[in-house]
Amino acid sequence: MSVSFSNKLINWYNHNKRDLPWRKTKDPYKIWVSEIILQQTRIEFGIKYYYKFIKKYPDVKKLANSKEMDLMKIWEGLGYYSRAINMLKTAKIVLNNFNGVFPLSYEELIQLPGIGDYTASAISSICNDELQVVVDGNVLRFLSRIHKIDLPIESIKTKKYFKKLGFKLIQDVKPGDFNQALMDYGSTICKPKKFDCNNCLFSSDCKAYNSNSVENYPVKKKKIKVKDRFLNYVVVVTNDNKTQIKKRDSSGIWKNLYEFPLIETKIETSAKQISKELDLNLKDLLSVKKINHRLSHQLLHINFFVYKVDYKLDDLVDINTLESYPFPKPINKFISELI
Ligand code: ADE
Repeated sequence: MSVSFSNKLINWYNHNKRDLPWRKTKDPYKIWVSEIILQQTRIEFGIKYYYKFIKKYPDVKKLANSKEMDLMKIWEGLGYYSRAINMLKTAKIVLNNFNGVFPLSYEELIQLPGIGDYTASAISSICNDELQVVVDGNVLRFLSRIHKIDLPIESIKTKKYFKKLGFKLIQDVKPGDFNQALMDYGSTICKPKKFDCNNCLFSSDCKAYNSNSVENYPVKKKKIKVKDRFLNYVVVVTNDNKTQIKKRDSSGIWKNLYEFPLIETKIETSAKQISKELDLNLKDLLSVKKINHRLSHQLLHINFFVYKVDYKLDDLVDINTLESYPFPKPINKFISELI
């Protein structure tokens, strides 16, 4: 089955591959940028970030010499901000230790911050046709259905199993094309819910299809528990239209982004309690805005309590300049309505 599977897949890819901007290049810097953006991000959403990123940082030297705040501004809205922080670290290492020449081999790539097995395999195979296999969510889904593999996809053991299977299948074809073909097939035909088995070239070989159980694959462990968090932002507005902001630290969610002064509570709180806690006058409360925001493992219940104040404070910035700072998505939404 394996030779014809590879050939059929490559043939399909040659006729159906998606027209993506990073497919016009073999520059490992650009492929790296695209692969990091596409982790945890849908392709359609990631494309505009790719263009913005490459326009501002066309090469690794420009990125290595960039300011973290500017980079975070470009990344704003993409989430998982540690990706951007690691990119800056990697760019500096490439500039200093590799003379600015982005490495191509899996062995060198895997040593760099933010580059794991998936990204090292993708870059080395796409840019240099190194024999490496990528195992992302699309590949896991596609192969788990074809072979009816009952291992839960979250476990490291399962990833290793699929990698081995991939190495058996990849023989006699260009690894870069093969990997991208597997990913494209998974995301356009062997889709999570709207799987297109009627148009699938592999349905006669697909063990899940032939046992009427496509929707049972891939096998997942029990649902992750979502934690509720209550974030209360205190937005002060001074007489001369200034407000206080702070930079988050490099741990937890929203690493190194900015936010308003925060009070986190165990349960939903009220303006009355916030006023009491901060010794603010409830009469000075201008508005309360509530936004819920879902992250992969957390549901954030965010309240913005807006107060007018007429005394001196530290860390003040003009409200009209807020848009130049990198903020998390829900705070940005609030700011766009505030300005
Ligand atoms: N998803 C992430 N990287 C990809 C690639 N290079 N091709 C197709 N899908 C992808």
